[in-house]
Amino acid sequence: MSKLHILITGGKGMLGRTLQRVLAEHRITVADLPDWDITDAAVFDAQLATVTPDVVIHCAAMTAVDKCESDVDLAYKLNAVGSGNVAASCHRHGIRLIAISTDYVFGGELDRPYHEFDVAGGAHTIYGLSKFAGEELIRRHCPNHLICRISWLYGPGGPSFVHTMLKLADGTRPQLKVVNDQIGNPTSTWAVAEHLAIFLQHPELVGTFHLTCEGEATWFEFAQEIFRNAGVTQEVIPCTTDEYPRPAPRPHNSRLEKRMLRLCALPPMPDWHDALKEFFARGI
Ligand SMILES: NC(=O)c1ccc[n+]([C@@H]2O[C@H](COP(=O)([O-])OP(=O)(O)OC[C@H]3O[C@@H](n4cnc5c(N)ncnc54)[C@H](OP(=O)(O)O)[C@@H]3O)[C@@H](O)[C@H]2O)c1
Repeated sequence: MSKLHILITGGKGMLGRTLQRVLAEHRITVADLPDWDITDAAVFDAQLATVTPDVVIHCAAMTAVDKCESDVDLAYKLNAVGSGNVAASCHRHGIRLIAISTDYVFGGELDRPYHEFDVAGGAHTIYGLSKFAGEELIRRHCPNHLICRISWLYGPGGPSFVHTMLKLADGTRPQLKVVNDQIGNPTSTWAVAEHLAIFLQHPELVGTFHLTCEGEATWFEFAQEIFRNAGVTQEVIPCTTDEYPRPAPRPHNSRLEKRMLRLCALPPMPDWHDALKEFFARGI
């Protein structure tokens, strides 16, 4: 395919770094702090007008879920207002926008995976509410957009659940308690980035897509698979969410159905077991 100029907001973050590697055949502009600040609308707009990429992949966000509860204004400033700024700027300059969102926009009460036509906005966390507000501003300000919801993300360099588990399994803990009543789709940055590369070949696509790996697991099951792949012997014991209260209540059901991939006849996401194996093979 022809070489594109792609600007990645939050490009130094976990997903942004993998995107740089997967999209290396294209021209990439990494737009991250301190030079690019999505909360400064005027400066961001002027910089975008100068750089004029073909596509913006918007990864910048406040992703520390518990910190969002204690700094609500900053969460909304980044995840909502910042995303609105990026969207308005992209529309003003005729640039396609691919924005990354999250399963946290849902409340997590459903007893089946959420699909793209389920009504979102029932989040119970500031992170989820602010990310959903960001989605809505993107829809309003930039019609030529894709919103890609991902979840339970891990990638080279972390930080992620995979990196935390491996750190905790340092031989000092005979047993590790891991939550077994939250269910989701563990998803690697490689799998997401490779699907975003497919989206780049389809400028006609617009709307909201779920992009998590296929298959589901609890954190307990995910931890067991991490240790199996890492060749680490660590006893893991299942526990409940109530045993680990956090400032931001975690959704019990984070599973996302990839209905839009199916309806658009696009390739499915890989199974999470395969993606995890590949992650370890490529280097953590
Ligand atoms: N990680 C997950 O488990 C997960 C799950 C679902 C969805 N997502 C979504 O996936 C996307 C990427 O996540 P990630 O894990 O790669 O995030 P990340 O590692 O936290 O990266 C976010 C990047 O954005 C930067 N940033 C912060 N404030 C900024 C600002 N005002 N202007 C420009 N850049 C700013 C951060 O810089 P600093 O480090 O200097 O703050 C960081 O480099 C996010 O939209 C996130 O909501 C993530």
